[in-house]
Amino acid sequence: MANKRASSNLINDPLWYKDAVIYQVHIKSFFDANNDGIGDFPGLISKLDYIADLGANTVWLLPFYPSPRRDDGYDIADYRGVHPDYGTLADVKRFISEAHQRGLRVITELVINHTSDQHPWFQKARHAKAGSTARDYYVWSDSDQKYAGTRIIFLDTETSNWTWDPVAGQYFWHRFYAHQPDLNFDNPQVIKEVLSVMRYWLDMGIDGLRLDAVPYLIERDGTNNENLPETHQILKQIRAEIDANYPDRMLLAEANQWPEDTRPYFGDSDGIKGDECHMAFHFPLMPRLYLALAQEDRLPITDILRRTPPIPAHCQWAIFLRNHDELTLEMVTDKEREALWNYYAPDRRARINLGIRRRLAPLMEGDRRRIELLNSVLLSMRGTPTLYYGDEIGMGDNIDLNDRDGVRTPMQWSIDLNGGFSRANPASLVLAPITDPLYGYQAVNVEAQALDPHSLLNWTRRLLAVRKQQKAFGRGSLNMLSPRNRRVLAYVREFTDALGNTQTIVCVANVSRSAQTVELDLSTWAGRVPVEMLSTHPFPPIGPLPYSLTLAPYGFYWFLLVSENAMPDHPPQADRLPQQELSVIS
Ligand code: GLC
Ligand code: CA
Repeated sequence: MANKRASSNLINDPLWYKDAVIYQVHIKSFFDANNDGIGDFPGLISKLDYIADLGANTVWLLPFYPSPRRDDGYDIADYRGVHPDYGTLADVKRFISEAHQRGLRVITELVINHTSDQHPWFQKARHAKAGSTARDYYVWSDSDQKYAGTRIIFLDTETSNWTWDPVAGQYFWHRFYAHQPDLNFDNPQVIKEVLSVMRYWLDMGIDGLRLDAVPYLIERDGTNNENLPETHQILKQIRAEIDANYPDRMLLAEANQWPEDTRPYFGDSDGIKGDECHMAFHFPLMPRLYLALAQEDRLPITDILRRTPPIPAHCQWAIFLRNHDELTLEMVTDKEREALWNYYAPDRRARINLGIRRRLAPLMEGDRRRIELLNSVLLSMRGTPTLYYGDEIGMGDNIDLNDRDGVRTPMQWSIDLNGGFSRANPASLVLAPITDPLYGYQAVNVEAQALDPHSLLNWTRRLLAVRKQQKAFGRGSLNMLSPRNRRVLAYVREFTDALGNTQTIVCVANVSRSAQTVELDLSTWAGRVPVEMLSTHPFPPIGPLPYSLTLAPYGFYWFLLVSENAMPDHPPQADRLPQQELSVIS
C-alpha cells in the first residue's frame, strides 16, 4: 500500500480532508474519450488538469461499478469491477495514479446498504433455503406489515419498503427502489464481505469512501429503522479496520438527518478522533442557505448552526450547495418545505420526492450575484466544501428528463458537437446535453469561460485560490456575529497554527436583493486593518466604535484582519485580480 502511494504528490497529512475542496463528478457525463457516447475513465483522466486548475484537490466519483444502472449505478451488481462502458480496472488504477501525481485525492462510493437485485448474492439468496446464511444476506419476511413505522424515501415511485419475490416466496426489504434489496447487517458474513470490498479499493489507493445511505443498515421492530445503535456498532467496526490498516484514509457519511442525529456518525472515543466517520454531510444546512436567500434573512442559517452540536477535533463537516440528487428538503419543517418549493420550484416538474431537481444556476435564475454569494458562503463556512461538476460554469438542467437525470447531463466543454463532451452521434449519447438558449452549451461552456477573465469559471478559480492561502477556512473556529440587521450574515473564522500565529478572517454576506448597511462589533480586534481578500484592498482600521459597512445587493466580503505594521507598503491593488492564470484548458 505505502509503496503505491510513494510516487504521488499528495500532502502527507492524515487530516488532509480538513483542507480539501471536493469536486464531485459523474464519469459517464464528464468526458467521452472513445466517442461511444458515454463518459469514461480515460476521458476523466484527460480532464484532471481542468479539475486541478480549478483549485479542487479531491475528486469524488459517483458509482462506476457493473450495474443495470436503474439507479444510475447505486444499484451495484459487482463491488469489485468497473462498468465496461466506463473502462477497465487498469483504467481505474491509472486514474488513481494520475490524480495522485497532480496532488488530487480520490473519494469513491461504498454503497453497502443495498445491492442491485442482479447482484449474485441476491440471486443466490432468493434460491437458498429460508433461514440459511445465503438467504440471510438480505432481509426477508413473510409479511409486508413488518417494520410498519418506517418511512418511504422514494415517495414518487415506491409504495412499500417490501417487495414480494416469487422465487424466494417471501418479501424482501428495500429502503430505496424495489430493485435494490437491503443487505442484512445482522449476518456477520455480510459485514465480512463489506470489509473485504473496502480493503480491495483502499489497497488500490482510494483515499476516501462516501458511505451511501448509511443510517439504514439495521432494522429493529418498533423503531423507525434509522440511526439505530446497532448501525453505529457496524460503523465502529468499519472504522476500526481503517484505523488499524489505513490511517490516512477517510470515511464520509451520507446521513440525511437532523444535526443531533448526524452527530453520532462521527462517533466518539476520546473527544478528538471519533470512532465512526471522519466526515459527514451537513444536510440541514444546505436548504437553509437557499431559504435565507428566499426570505432575505440570515436566521435559517444561524439557527441551524446554533443547533449543530460540536464534533470531535479531527472530524469535519462536508458542506455543499448541490449534488447529483434532488435538492433534498427532508430536513426542513413542512412550512419551510412549502416555502422553498414555491420559491424555487413553482413548476411542479422541477419537484421530485421531497426535493427539487434543479442545478444551482437555474435555482438562482442565472443571477451571478446570487450564485457568487452562495459560493462565498460555502467556501468560507466551517466544513469542507463540495462542488458539483458543471456548477462552476453555471450549467443548467433539464426537468423533462427522467428521475434525477436532469442534473446529470454531459459537461459542457465547448461549442463543438455535443458540447465537446463526445464525438458520437448525438442520438447515442448517454444523456442529451443541455441545448436551451440560456444554459445550452453554445452559451455556457468551459472554453469560452476560460477565455473570459470575468466568467463564473475564472471567478470560482480566483475564490478557490484565495481560500487556499488561509488555513482558517478549513481548520478554523467559526463564531457568529449578531449585527442588528438580519439581512446580513457575518462570522469570524479563526485559526492558530503550531507556531502560535493566529489568522482571523471576517466574512460578511448580504442575503438580500437590496443594498444594506451593517454595524459589526469587531472591538476585540481594535487597531487591526481588514484587508478585503479578493482585491487585497485595505479597509479603514477597526476602532473602538462598531465597524460600519455597506454591502451591495447580494454583496459579500472576506476580510483578513492584519496588524497595521504588517500592512504591505505597496499601494492598494483594488483593480488588480489576484495572480491567476487565465489560460484555456481543453
Ligand atoms: C443515495 C444516493 C442516491 C441513490 C440512493 C440509493 O441517497 O445519493 O443517488 O439513489 O442513495 O442508492
Ligand atoms: Ca466512452
